[in-house]
Amino acid sequence: MTNEAGTHGAILQDTAPENGDHPLVELRNAGKSYGNIRALHGVGLQVHPGRVTCVLGDNGAGKSTLIKIVSGLHQHTEGEFLVDGEPVRFSTPREALDKGIATVYQDLAVVPLMPVWRNFFLGSEMTKGPWPVRRLDIERMKKTADQELRNMGIVLDDLEQPIGTLSGGQRQCVAIARAVYFGARVLILDEPTAALGVKQSGVVLKYIAAARDRGLGVIFITHNPHHAYMVGDHFSVLRLGTMELSASRDQVSLEELTNHMAGGAELASLKHELAQVRGVDVDRLPEAEELTVPAATGEGKS
Ligand SMILES: Nc1ncnc2c1ncn2[C@@H]1O[C@H](COP(=O)(O)OP(=O)(O)O)[C@@H](O)[C@H]1O
Ligand SMILES: [Mg+2]
Repeated sequence: MTNEAGTHGAILQDTAPENGDHPLVELRNAGKSYGNIRALHGVGLQVHPGRVTCVLGDNGAGKSTLIKIVSGLHQHTEGEFLVDGEPVRFSTPREALDKGIATVYQDLAVVPLMPVWRNFFLGSEMTKGPWPVRRLDIERMKKTADQELRNMGIVLDDLEQPIGTLSGGQRQCVAIARAVYFGARVLILDEPTAALGVKQSGVVLKYIAAARDRGLGVIFITHNPHHAYMVGDHFSVLRLGTMELSASRDQVSLEELTNHMAGGAELASLKHELAQVRGVDVDRLPEAEELTVPAATGEGKS
């Protein structure tokens, strides 16, 4: 369903689904103001199990504000926020986590010098023995971490190695596996591929797909339409705090998505400028007009 105007989202989605088949997470006509600054308004979003919902947008579009609402860091100031069909208002990230909403931030909260398995259980360590001689169940933690990483298809040579020695992509993957193990139903990833190279990005995308295949609802924040299109089932594009596009995979092509992200008209004028300044071969850049209008008969370039 296309949400043409964003602000009508609530009206379009107002009919409650029958047989209790609610989205895991839903925003209806939601918004957030920081004092006088209206960072987000009229936003609709649905997260379903086993599906990847991509949220795209340029810097300042409101992506982080949106996920801060869902992850319990901030509260919405307009519209509705529902979990399992029930209106909610979280005061802390802990409350979101209790509902199974886990967030993997770009700057992960890990202790670099601690082994991988130790970071996997950080803050939720397994123990054994009766009080007062309870101690860490190291063997069981190592075994479980190894098993859980393998279940996600993540193979690391040695779980004893400090997590700081892993690549950024591998660390993201460990964080994803950790969230899955601790019972997340909704996984929020804030720009997990932004700082990564091509190959590493591919690895992270693979585990996003693995989390989806295990039935989690994934919210994937990115400004890269190519990454989004590789794993996404639904695409929401934010621009200046409002929803410019909300479309499922069969409603939008990669070209259209790229064009929405680039801002078709802006890209076209930029191309003209580039051509004048440096003699850039503009014909090798994507043709913005062609992306929206069905291909013309090959003429019309004045
Ligand atoms: N804590 C805040 N106080 C005031 N304005 C904020 C705050 N956080 C974000 N904003 C503003 O809200 C808008 C959206 O920001 P943000 O959600 O971070 O966008 P994105 O993550 O897409 O880059 C920006 O104009 C930003 O300056
Ligand atoms: Mg951001």
